[in-house]
Amino acid sequence: MDDNDSQEREHFQRIVRAFKAYRQHSHQRVAEREGYLKTLPPHHQALLESYKKHLALQRVCIDHNAEIIRLIIKDVDCMFENVHHQPSNCDEEYVNTQLGPDIEKVQSTIRQIVRDWSPCGEQERSQCYGPIIHQIDRLFPKDKMNRQDVKILVPGAGLGRLAYELAKRGFACQGNEFSLFMLFASNFVLNKCRGPNSLRVYPWVHTGSNTINNSDQLRPATFPDVDPSDLPPNSEFTMAAGDFLEIYTTEAAFECVATCFFIDCANNIVSFLETIYKILKPGGYWVNLGPLLYHFADQPGEPSIEPSYEEVKSIAEGIGFKITVEESGLKTAYTQNTLSMLKYEYQSVFFVACKPASRSG
Ligand SMILES: C[S@@+](CC[C@H](N)C(=O)[O-])C[C@H]1O[C@@H](n2cnc3c(N)ncnc32)[C@H](O)[C@@H]1O
Repeated sequence: MDDNDSQEREHFQRIVRAFKAYRQHSHQRVAEREGYLKTLPPHHQALLESYKKHLALQRVCIDHNAEIIRLIIKDVDCMFENVHHQPSNCDEEYVNTQLGPDIEKVQSTIRQIVRDWSPCGEQERSQCYGPIIHQIDRLFPKDKMNRQDVKILVPGAGLGRLAYELAKRGFACQGNEFSLFMLFASNFVLNKCRGPNSLRVYPWVHTGSNTINNSDQLRPATFPDVDPSDLPPNSEFTMAAGDFLEIYTTEAAFECVATCFFIDCANNIVSFLETIYKILKPGGYWVNLGPLLYHFADQPGEPSIEPSYEEVKSIAEGIGFKITVEESGLKTAYTQNTLSMLKYEYQSVFFVACKPASRSG
C-alpha cells in the first residue's frame, strides 16, 4: 500500500467514524443541557418543565436520525469497487477529543437530504435547479436531438438531485463529488431508497436557536420525494467520486457542464473555469447558478483568492467563453430551515456561457 492509499484509507475511516459518532455526540449535547437544568434553582426548573420534556423528545429524534445514519453507512466499507475498507470503530475518547468539525458535516449531510430529496426542499430546488434545468431544456430541445447523445457533467453534485433530474429528461448525465459525506448519502438515497417518502429525518433537531415553537425544531422531513430508481429505461446516470480537477482531464468530452453552488469551492477559481472550458466540446455550454461564497476565504492554512463576479466574468471571457444569458439577484437558499427566525438568502448569479465552435466563433 503506498502513502496515497493509506491516506485515503485513513480519510475514509475518519468519515465513517464521524457518522458512527453522531448518536453519542448528539446525546451528549442534550445531556449537557439537562445537566445544566439540574443546577438551576428549583423555581426556574419548575418554569422550564416543558423545555425539559422538549429535550427528552430531542433524544427520540436523534435516535431516529442515528438509525438513518446507520443505514447510510451500512455497506460503505465495500462501496468503491476494488477497495475494501476495514470497519471503523468509534470510541468515547474519539467522540470527546477528535471529532471536531466532522460532526457538523454529518448534521449538514442530513440537511442536504432535505434540500435534494424531501418534499420540504421543493422550493429550494426550484429556485436553484429550476433555472439550470430550464436553460438546458431550451439549449438541447428533445424534439431536435437524441438527448442520450448529449453528455452533461454536474461537478460538485452534492446528493445528486440536479444530475438525476437531467438524466430523467433523457440526457447522459454524470454527477461528480469528492466529499465522502455526500457520496455515502447519495449512494444511500439513489441506490437503496425505494418508495416515495418512505423514510424521515429530523433535520432541525440540533438547532435550538431562533425557533418559534418547540414543534418546529422537532418536525420531520420525509424523503425521498420521488423514487430515485424511477428513471426512463436506458437512462444514463452515474456518480463519479473524486476531485473534479483531477479526474476530468480529457478535452472536449461533454456537451454541457452544469454547476450549482460550486465554482466558489475552489482555492483558485480560474483552474475550475479552465477545466470546464477544456472538457466542453466546441459549441458546448456551461450553465451556472450560485453565489460567490468562497469556501476557503476564511479557512486557516488554505490558500484562497476571491475575485468578484465582474472579475469571474472577465476571467471566463479571457479563457474563451462567450456569455449568452445572464441574470443576477436570483433569490436562492441553501439548506434553509424555512421556519427559523434567521434566514439566509443569496442573491445568486445565473449565466450560460458557450465555448465557441471555433476560436473566432
Ligand atoms: C455548496 S455544495 C453544492 C452541492 C450541490 N451542487 C447543491 O447545489 O446542493 C458544493 C459541493 O461541491 C463539492 N466539491 C467541492 N470541490 C470539489 C471538487 N474539487 N471536486 C468535486 N467536488 C467538489 C463539495 O463536496 C460540495 O458537496
